[in-house]
Amino acid sequence: MDPLLQHIYDLDEAAMERAARHVMLGGGTRGGPVLVRGKGVRVWDTAGRDYIDCTSQSWALYLGYANDDINQVIREHIESLTHVHQGFDTKPRFYLAEKLASLAPGSLNRVSFTVGGGPAIEAAMKVCLKNVNPARDFVCLYDSYHGTTLGTMGASWISTHAAGSYVGGSRFLELTRPFIRIPNPYTYRNPYGVDAETYIDMCLTMARETFERGIAGRPAGVIVDPIQASGGQIILPARYLRGLRELCDEYQTLLVFDEIQTYARIGEWFAADYFGVEPDIIVLGKALGAGLPLAAIIISDRLQGFSPDTEELHTFANPSLSMVTAAKQIALLEAGVLDNCRQMGQYLGEGIRSLGLEFPEIGDIRQAGLHIGIEFVADPESKRPLENETVAIRDAGFNHGIIFGLGGVRKNVLKVKPPLIITRSEADEVLDKLQASMRDVLR
Ligand SMILES: Cc1ncc(COP(=O)(O)O)c(C=O)c1O
Repeated sequence: MDPLLQHIYDLDEAAMERAARHVMLGGGTRGGPVLVRGKGVRVWDTAGRDYIDCTSQSWALYLGYANDDINQVIREHIESLTHVHQGFDTKPRFYLAEKLASLAPGSLNRVSFTVGGGPAIEAAMKVCLKNVNPARDFVCLYDSYHGTTLGTMGASWISTHAAGSYVGGSRFLELTRPFIRIPNPYTYRNPYGVDAETYIDMCLTMARETFERGIAGRPAGVIVDPIQASGGQIILPARYLRGLRELCDEYQTLLVFDEIQTYARIGEWFAADYFGVEPDIIVLGKALGAGLPLAAIIISDRLQGFSPDTEELHTFANPSLSMVTAAKQIALLEAGVLDNCRQMGQYLGEGIRSLGLEFPEIGDIRQAGLHIGIEFVADPESKRPLENETVAIRDAGFNHGIIFGLGGVRKNVLKVKPPLIITRSEADEVLDKLQASMRDVLR
């Protein structure tokens, strides 16, 4: 082994403690184990303990840790190309762009690659501004999350929850862009106490009113995460998304689906397929590169795309290595992993629903494929969020050898989003460990 690599692998507790003060973090939920290596759905820490990872590391490792097929592609391709300037063509980029265009719904068939989710949302915003003009303001939903770049932070709930504790985004108001917000049909909770269908109607009416009277000029675009993952695994109803599509057509603006978290994880390639609603632009990131950094937008053929006079240029927007891993992952998804995601999603969903019989604190289970959230409440009537208990369940999970995610603007949503390759026996293990963690805290 390379001696420096060996040295790094050999760093002990004291060395890490010493170095920790040099590491500056602007986010992320700390307090978990220090990770050393992973294989499949499992990851090991410095003490040799193993955990089933239901976060897939920012939900990005669809094929789990150290996937043999992906590693093989990396080993072979790294011998020829890794980093390539955006201005040079490569075969991986041609292949991947064509492949994504073939998978994307309807008229969406041109792809621009970029370096991460936030920049990809900004790329979509640029395409909107090129095609809808005159227009300035973008519309997004309450509880949405579209990144923390200065261009997207105003569209992330961390900038709007002024009374909450996660308000980091509001410290940069001088530079963040204001977004026009419309209510999200979070049907489990609505401030009006009406039934779900009425609330969806109300949200659509408020969207129309905003388009009509609450914005200067036409909206430049409407940006939606069809499942609001960071916002609390909120699955937007198909009827609402269809209604937004109609409104966008009526007001001649563009509908952008932020599919950074939904791509393939929901058991379909795109939320657009899942909900039967075709947006004008789809944004991809996170797992697209099979664990290597890659993001993209796919735009409708009807739209004017980027022109090459430096409208969109990034040093690392043509990562040939991430492109071959992305392509290989698509092949594996096609060869059965997507089916497994559907089946295991169903299986885990049923298992969690049966845990609901033992734990009335499970207020709501929201699931599409392996995109699963459990909202904990004090009781079904008050629906008072159990924030501390949800954090405690996540922490108890570490003791039981499992890593859950936390989410929701009230931090009372436990996320169960393992790699899509999870097997039935691993899913059983997840259910057992989830039950044990909940018993530790709630009983
Ligand atoms: C729905 C959604 N959009 C955008 C982003 C931002 O992506 P990135 O963190 O790669 O900038 C995220 C990241 O969590 C996300 O979940």
